Amino acid sequence: ALRHSVKPKAQKQNRRSWNNLQPQASYKVAVLGAAGGIGQPLALLIKMSPLVSALHLYDIANVKGVAADLSHCNTPSQVLDFTGASELANSLKGVNVVVIPAGVARKPGMTRDDLFNINANIVKTLVEAVAENCPDAFIHIISNPINSTVPIAAEVLKQKGVYDPKKLFGVSTLDVVRANTFVAQKKNLKLIDVDVPVVGGHAGITILPLLSKTKPSASFTDEEVQELTVRIQNAGTEVVEAKAGAGSATLSMAYAAARFVESSLRALDGDSDVYECCYIQSELTELPFFASRVKIGRKGVEAVISSDLQGLTEYEEKALEALKPELKASIEKGISFVHKQP
Ligand code: NAI
Repeated sequence: ALRHSVKPKAQKQNRRSWNNLQPQASYKVAVLGAAGGIGQPLALLIKMSPLVSALHLYDIANVKGVAADLSHCNTPSQVLDFTGASELANSLKGVNVVVIPAGVARKPGMTRDDLFNINANIVKTLVEAVAENCPDAFIHIISNPINSTVPIAAEVLKQKGVYDPKKLFGVSTLDVVRANTFVAQKKNLKLIDVDVPVVGGHAGITILPLLSKTKPSASFTDEEVQELTVRIQNAGTEVVEAKAGAGSATLSMAYAAARFVESSLRALDGDSDVYECCYIQSELTELPFFASRVKIGRKGVEAVISSDLQGLTEYEEKALEALKPELKASIEKGISFVHKQP
């Protein structure tokens, strides 16, 4: 189940709802880049949500077939397709949540920052359209490097006069999903119970799993901390190398993004128990953007869980200080990209 909660009761409810063909709410979700490696499985998972009444699929090509295919699933939401720039505005009208996995993905040997030049422009263009057509929507940025593309989105929204920092999210859920999986395997814990907060950013050493805050509490040797931290940080590269040129994580990413969409929809629907890690504008550290656990409500981020950064181990403290210069540079790169535009 995609339901993320520390409360098992709520998880059971969600399991029931997945087999329920009755709509339980009527939110509209748009996926921009819907024909891609992430976009397709993500659209499928969103199509299964009883909280969604309409699923808008936008891409520059190949989206008609994806939409026709998905529309045959007998779940409540209606699937609509939108192709090319001329249909972008219509894909966004009336939408509550916009998810952006548009852009190019890594190939072996590439860092997320190598994607900057292409994806920065794509995110800028798409967020301009969001600002014009559904300025009130939650915006989920998946296109990498999110350490920079989220600040880009923020600047674009500011220029358009519609920036609400509580509704702009960099999707770092996959880091949590991976951390939970790897920790459960290593410590022989029941997977469904494990929750590891991951803070910082979403690239290399900026990804900082706070293993000391693992729930249920678990103890790790220094070697285990080192090994798990590095594996979580490099997990994306593990997939890029295994796919050997055919792209980066798509299926686990779609799963993680669908969980974040479902959490956002539950929050919009009034659930007062929604917590996720995500990369947002933040005052938790001296950096203007930072990933941490937050409580999400009807109006977006309701509270930042600052206690996660208290009582860190020496290892975590050092790693936190070490990631700051890189994350800061990525944020500044994103901001100056927008201001350099003619
Ligand atoms: P992909 O290449 O399979 O799909 C990208 C899709 O975006 C394609 O269908 C393409 O037509 C579309 N696209 C390109 N330009 C567009 C535009 N201007 N407007 C709308 N759509 C456009 O790539 P994949 O594997 O789906 O990855 C997408 C992005 O997600 C990449 O930037 C990748 O780095 C990122 N990613 C992020 C992760 C995260 O944890 N946040 C994890 C994995 C990937």
